Amino acid sequence: MLVVKAAGAEIRQEWCDHFAGLLPDLAARSFDAPDIRDEEVTYALVWEPDPGWLARFPKLRAIFSLGAGVEHITADPTWPRHVPLVRMGSEETGQRMGEYVAWACLSLLRDARDFALAQAERRWDYKVGDATAQDVQVGIMGMGRLGGAAVPMLRGLGFPVAGWSRSPKVVEGAICFAGPEELDAFLAETRILVCLLPATPETERIVDAALLAKLPRGAAVVNAGRGSNLVTADLIAALDSGHLSGAVLDVFDREPLPAENPLWSHPKVTVTPHVASIARRRERARFVAGAIRDFEAGRPLPNLYHPDRGY
Ligand code: NAP
Ligand code: GLV
Repeated sequence: MLVVKAAGAEIRQEWCDHFAGLLPDLAARSFDAPDIRDEEVTYALVWEPDPGWLARFPKLRAIFSLGAGVEHITADPTWPRHVPLVRMGSEETGQRMGEYVAWACLSLLRDARDFALAQAERRWDYKVGDATAQDVQVGIMGMGRLGGAAVPMLRGLGFPVAGWSRSPKVVEGAICFAGPEELDAFLAETRILVCLLPATPETERIVDAALLAKLPRGAAVVNAGRGSNLVTADLIAALDSGHLSGAVLDVFDREPLPAENPLWSHPKVTVTPHVASIARRRERARFVAGAIRDFEAGRPLPNLYHPDRGY
């Protein structure tokens, strides 16, 4: 049996309906269904499971995260670490993140926030920026699956692209940097910093005043990784001092972003409500069903969480 723990009864029913079509031999149930016997549960698809809940199932064979991030599962000290944990990985997640990053970079390049503020006051603020995309290097912190998907889209728009990751890699169309020792060189040429890092102890508050100071004056920041990657007060200070020219933020320490948070009204900040890359449920169900079929046939699970790396 596959149990689904997601917000909203209708949404859970939609998941179960997708799985009924995709995996007809595996019963799919909402986590609160009355007929679930713990020892029958072999797979769990979850978002923010209650602490202790996953540990109830003695025959669990794999856990699937509804999102690419898994900190909502690993934050539970009792989660069953011997069970493989799969991070969401549908192709559509990459497509959507690429679209978001391309949109955010173009918005920053073409002063979209300034024009939106001027329009709200019916002001004809005529200004044409100097740079084109060719002049603006985008630096992706976290050149993984999603960062890699953004590269060809950014390149297609004319942006030079660089990436920074934990381990060295070769990505077509991007200059690649890796590890703490190459971070400064990566930042020195980055005009738009795009954070697509997972939430781990190593990446917590990595984008702070010291890191922002290493970006060229006038640089901008996009955060679509996790709120915990960023020190918000340091970002606001760098915007207010003129060191940074703008920011597009999709993820926050507290979500929904509280109404009193200064980011909402900051003239240089565009806020989006954690929507950068939420693939359709049908596409994510296909990814999960394909992984379960492969696993049942003895093939490896994709996109596994590695406890030693923390993501
Ligand atoms: P991924 O394939 O695992 O990529 C993560 C990247 O971060 C990898 O390049 C990894 O380096 C790098 N990294 C991790 N720790 C690092 C460190 N300490 N120093 C330098 N680089 C480090 O994950 P993904 O699927 O691209 O997803 C990335 C994150 O995006 C997720 O964890 C989630 O937080 C966020 N996300 C947000 C949304 C949204 O809607 N806003 C949607 C989906 C995902 P290596 O390549 O060397 O492993
Ligand atoms: C969304 O934020 C995800 O982790 O997929």
